[in-house]
Amino acid sequence: MSQSLWRKKDLNSMHLDAKKTNLNKVLTTFDLTMLGIGAVVGSGIFVMIGEGAATAGPALSLSFIIAAITCLFSALAYAEFASTVPLAGSAYTYSYFTIGEFMAWIIGWNLILEYLLAVSVVAGGWSGYFQNLISGFGVTLPEGLTMAPGTKEGVNSYFDLPAFIIIIVLTAILSFGVQQSKKVNNIMVLIKVGVILLFIVVGVGYVEPANWTPYMPYGVDGVFAATSAAFFAFIGFDAISSAAEETVNPQKSLPRGILFSLLICTVLYIIVTFVMTGLVPYAEFEGVANPISLAIETTGQDWITGIIDLGAILGMTTVMIVMLFGLTRIMFAMSRDGLLPKTLAKTHPKFKTPFNTTWFFGICAALLAAFIPLETLANLTVIGTLAAFIIVSASVIVLRKTHPNLKRGFRCPAVPLIPILSIIACSFLMYNLGFLTWIRFVIWLIIGVIVYFGYSRKHSRLHHKE
Ligand code: ALA
Repeated sequence: MSQSLWRKKDLNSMHLDAKKTNLNKVLTTFDLTMLGIGAVVGSGIFVMIGEGAATAGPALSLSFIIAAITCLFSALAYAEFASTVPLAGSAYTYSYFTIGEFMAWIIGWNLILEYLLAVSVVAGGWSGYFQNLISGFGVTLPEGLTMAPGTKEGVNSYFDLPAFIIIIVLTAILSFGVQQSKKVNNIMVLIKVGVILLFIVVGVGYVEPANWTPYMPYGVDGVFAATSAAFFAFIGFDAISSAAEETVNPQKSLPRGILFSLLICTVLYIIVTFVMTGLVPYAEFEGVANPISLAIETTGQDWITGIIDLGAILGMTTVMIVMLFGLTRIMFAMSRDGLLPKTLAKTHPKFKTPFNTTWFFGICAALLAAFIPLETLANLTVIGTLAAFIIVSASVIVLRKTHPNLKRGFRCPAVPLIPILSIIACSFLMYNLGFLTWIRFVIWLIIGVIVYFGYSRKHSRLHHKE
């Protein structure tokens, strides 16, 4: 038994699987970069940045730099894997091949936490912005349908209707084909980046440098406390690697897409943070749901506020698209391997998408977003992601030892130093996440272990081979 926990897939059979399931290959480096930015720039920069500024002060830019460096280390590890094992399933597939089935299961289980909760959390933020926008046209929803029960004291709501509907609509778009969703995604990402650039260009002329002092009002503790929100803002670049089987030239495009999107987002975030905290004294961001709009309002350029709101809505929409996309591809890979029910692995004959998986997880995410106040669970998304990053970084070191001669489209520099730095940085961020997050995380892992021993181990295709 202990041996079967470490049973590994071999690369040939994995490539064979990919051929059999025959996903549509349409994505280029540009599309992948857009997918990455699409997944990354969302509620982190449009919503959470406000609390971040209130927690760290202008030094929030340091929190972003710490989060960006952590992500860069992990991204280099991801890039090596994505160029070596370009198959759907991302980190899950990499660890199945290097460390073995049990760790692959655990990583897949964590990726559910990352993507599923991220979609639901972002849908909650989307719903808030959306209701703001339509209220400008005099439309308001009945109170009972405005947010998940228990989200806000004094609000008697039992269902977040906009959050539910947006996830169902996106699920439908994704299930009907990558070609359509790629176009929708690219247009929305261009608009979202345009809106952020507009904020920077207009805002920078009104910056009051006095707002930047004191730069670190809450000291180093404040900077670290805000790092988890900053990290949330970067989550998503790893989702690109799950599009491997739909990419024209994955060995070249995947590493480029991952690194380009991370670099572009880092530059955007740091500039936005400087401009935002330069426009408004940091303490005023406490409890503000639309900090970027608040900041631009102080310039007196009112015409931009509506555009920024719209950009935020589109921005969060692309995050949900790519997260759902990543989630379904990983679940697809896990069910193809037998660790989840087989029916989830079927490709639709006409649309060539993992249709059942897309709908199953789309409905789960929609129900979670509608009924559970998920903002408090954003930290759980962060901890699941960090755990996955640690395993991927460790897997790069293992793969260099076990398969030194394997053809790699991209090589992570300074192995094992960079993966080790990645493990240290991720562990440190995990350590900072607080007791309650850890308890929830451990409960999630225990459920995962039970499902593995109760179902997945016996149904695994490797088990049947044995
Ligand atoms: N990085 C994504 C966001 O900020 C999850 O919305």
